[in-house]
Amino acid sequence: METKLIRSPSQSDYLEAAAIIRAGGLVAFPTETVYGLGGNALMADAAKKIYAAKGRPSDNPLIIHLADAGEAEKYCITNPLYFRLAEAFTPGPLTMILTKKDCIPDDVTGGLSTVAVRIPSDPVAHAFLAACALPVAAPSANLSGKPSPTKAAHVMRDLSGRIDMVLDGGDSEIGLESTIVKIDDGCITLLRPGAVTPEMLRTICPDLRFDDKSMRPLSEGEKPLAPGMKYRHYAPSAKLILLDGSREAILSYMFEKSVDPTVGFLCDGEDMCALLPRERCFSLSSCQSGGEMAARLFAALREIDDHPGIETVFGALPVRQGIGLAVYNRLIKAAGFTVITL
Ligand code: TXA
Ligand code: MG
Repeated sequence: METKLIRSPSQSDYLEAAAIIRAGGLVAFPTETVYGLGGNALMADAAKKIYAAKGRPSDNPLIIHLADAGEAEKYCITNPLYFRLAEAFTPGPLTMILTKKDCIPDDVTGGLSTVAVRIPSDPVAHAFLAACALPVAAPSANLSGKPSPTKAAHVMRDLSGRIDMVLDGGDSEIGLESTIVKIDDGCITLLRPGAVTPEMLRTICPDLRFDDKSMRPLSEGEKPLAPGMKYRHYAPSAKLILLDGSREAILSYMFEKSVDPTVGFLCDGEDMCALLPRERCFSLSSCQSGGEMAARLFAALREIDDHPGIETVFGALPVRQGIGLAVYNRLIKAAGFTVITL
């Protein structure tokens, strides 16, 4: 199959993309978090195609994407908290898990009785979803195990020849996947940190539950918070090791290691870059900004893979505040939880 790449889509492109979705085909589209691989969420076969294209295990449920928060009532059992969160944070990078209605096939939810709902704010995503006029099931548009795509070129590299169309809307603004919360009994539990931070969620629901399971390795037999969290994620082929300690200690450790030409660095500041060989620095931010690090992280992890001579990469453990918590969560998984305390 030839994958059609559409740059700056027009209304007629959206109609063509929507026709592909209605017919059971697959269209990748940009969102403010990462690119999604969309299929008709009302068709079990479309979900099966998504799993096949990504090489993803089919017990890992998909998020359904809607143009408008009010549409959720057709597909799941809503409640006042859903609407309060939707009012505060959507359209935007928040996914909410609710009990599903029968019209959503089990193949979409990996057999679960719940379904994840998200209303993206990206204008291309919105125009595409509005043209589809049905729920679009979409995981991140990467091959399973690769970092989520933040550019159309990442999607093309992973999925060209496997899907019908890619809508190119430029770089994803946030760069990390949405915050996921589960809503039940008037309470919310944070399952995956993202750009809607715990601090922000607490303004709506002060007793936000938060399990540190997504921040540490699971012990044997322990159930993950979300089915997808048990799978290996984002790991570059080089070994990633995170350093915990004072800035001074981290910089001098990195400087010492830099004599080895097989060692690379994930740099979060100019002070770090200035000290190390430029050609082996993968820059996340010039000033330890959480937002910049989020936006650059997945592209940087993919760049490491373009340098096969680099076998080990060191990075600093990010501060777990605001969106930094989400950066920490993705980085620690990419590092397979390997941290050296200095
Ligand atoms: O920002 C995002 O959320 C992106 C864009 C494309 O919207 N999507 C995304 O999808 O990251 P995906 O499939 O890569 O990650 C969805 C996560 C998985 O870990 C999955 O297990 C979890 O959400 N999930 C989905 N439905 C669930 C449910 N009913 N209960 C618990 N976890 C669920
Ligand atoms: Mg994913």
